[in-house]
Amino acid sequence: MNDGGNAHQDIEATLNRYLQSWGLLEFHDEGTYYEWQRQSLPPQDLQRLQWLVEQRQGGKNTSADIQFYDLLADPSFLPILYSQRFDYFRQLGQLLSPRLSSSRHVLDFGCGVGILTCFFAQQYPESEFIGIDRSPHSIDIAQNEAKKRQISNVRFALIQNMPIPFDHPYDCILSTQALFQAEQEPGLPSQNWQTFERPVDDSRQQELERSTGLNERLVALLNTLSPDGRLICCEKTWNLGRRIFFQRALGAKTLFPISEPIPCSYHELGEPRIDGPVYEVTGRTATQSVAWNEQPFYREGESVYRCVGDMAERMGKEFLKTPRQEKRLGQHGSYGNWTIRCGVWEDALAWGMLETGSRFRGLVMASKRDRPLIFQLLETVGSLSDSEFEQFLRHGWGNVDNDTPNTSSPGYENHFPSAEEIYKDLPRKTIKQESTFSTGQGKEMHIEVGSTNTLRYLYWANTFDQRQLLLIDERGGDILEEYFQESVEAAQTPS
Ligand SMILES: C[S@@+](CC[C@H](N)C(=O)[O-])C[C@H]1O[C@@H](n2cnc3c(N)ncnc32)[C@H](O)[C@@H]1O
Repeated sequence: MNDGGNAHQDIEATLNRYLQSWGLLEFHDEGTYYEWQRQSLPPQDLQRLQWLVEQRQGGKNTSADIQFYDLLADPSFLPILYSQRFDYFRQLGQLLSPRLSSSRHVLDFGCGVGILTCFFAQQYPESEFIGIDRSPHSIDIAQNEAKKRQISNVRFALIQNMPIPFDHPYDCILSTQALFQAEQEPGLPSQNWQTFERPVDDSRQQELERSTGLNERLVALLNTLSPDGRLICCEKTWNLGRRIFFQRALGAKTLFPISEPIPCSYHELGEPRIDGPVYEVTGRTATQSVAWNEQPFYREGESVYRCVGDMAERMGKEFLKTPRQEKRLGQHGSYGNWTIRCGVWEDALAWGMLETGSRFRGLVMASKRDRPLIFQLLETVGSLSDSEFEQFLRHGWGNVDNDTPNTSSPGYENHFPSAEEIYKDLPRKTIKQESTFSTGQGKEMHIEVGSTNTLRYLYWANTFDQRQLLLIDERGGDILEEYFQESVEAAQTPS
């Protein structure tokens, strides 16, 4: 392994030990975690926590928000509740730490109990860190922990009102999930259901910046930043409506990204989460600035979908008509002769079909962008030993021995932005039924069912970036129509 790999492992191991030193435990499933939480906290504490969770919803109740973070900082709550964020701290620690190496004076805005602030201060003993927060108990804990750990280059201060007092400008300001909260705010809607583009709407932008408190925080923070300083932030801005709103707010303050924003993925009690991206921006006239990107992020492999048995055979009938295909053949001790074929159907969908003499049929489909992943199967399958072949089938297609027709799953399903690309590429689309609803404030939803060659499709899209594409063969067309009716009825029923 190269040095980069070793350094990565070192920081990960250091973070694991560090988080354990705060009493945090890592859980890989909700059931075990909540059982531990129930055993560790008396019911009245859990009720109070639940009450505060409800009170702070909507992001408008500052007092409830402060009480919530005060409660989380209570020594009997802290290790239990912050254990949910074990992997969050580990991933963010790894992503942010290298970016702090050149900074001498770092401000951590909304530092909470200082878990990340203390870690970074320990990593860079030559630099000075200050963490600020509006939760008094969080600041008390942060101060105690820094003292207990003998970290002399970090201070913490309670700041409940803007502006932020400072002795000298900071060359780096850090904010992780603190600058832009208002979690229920979906941000800016797209122009219509057919696009991810957001029209420029200065008055809505400014109104949102004001109502979410983002403008006030940005103004106060930038006031403390040195002219060539950097703001490094990772907020809950994965949703495109929030991301574009946030980017435009930064851009309006003449901040430019100086590195490619990177997503922050982590697990919360075993569930994958994606946040961020991590932005590194500066107000300096950017010579090496990166353009603001207002397109959805594409995650490699997001469009891949598999089906097996009867459904693979039914869908395969259409795909196997693809004129240019690549194929590999081989033999397996118990599955017999096998063939894998790959192609791109109608320039819309890449597919790979694995068939064996023992009548196993496995189909895998993806958007054109994920074509390399599909075609890679040709080499992968050919290089497998007999036992790896078996594992590969089970890992890729699940219960490979059960060939009972599955009537509840579609032949292809995609819930990501890449669904839109495939939908646009579908050949000879004929719409059978469609419906578009507007529910005010730029919210629009569209749903349609139709046919594409011998397949049937259902497409669902809205102005807050949700997309869904289902494909099935002719026999399954009724299921899509039922789904269409149900969705139309649900959309028309007032909530
Ligand atoms: C989700 S926590 C994040 C804590 C920490 N940065 C982390 O990544 O774990 C949000 C923190 O921001 C603080 N906060 C929110 N708004 C603030 C404000 N206007 N001024 C200071 N702190 C604020 C909250 O008290 C809370 O501790």
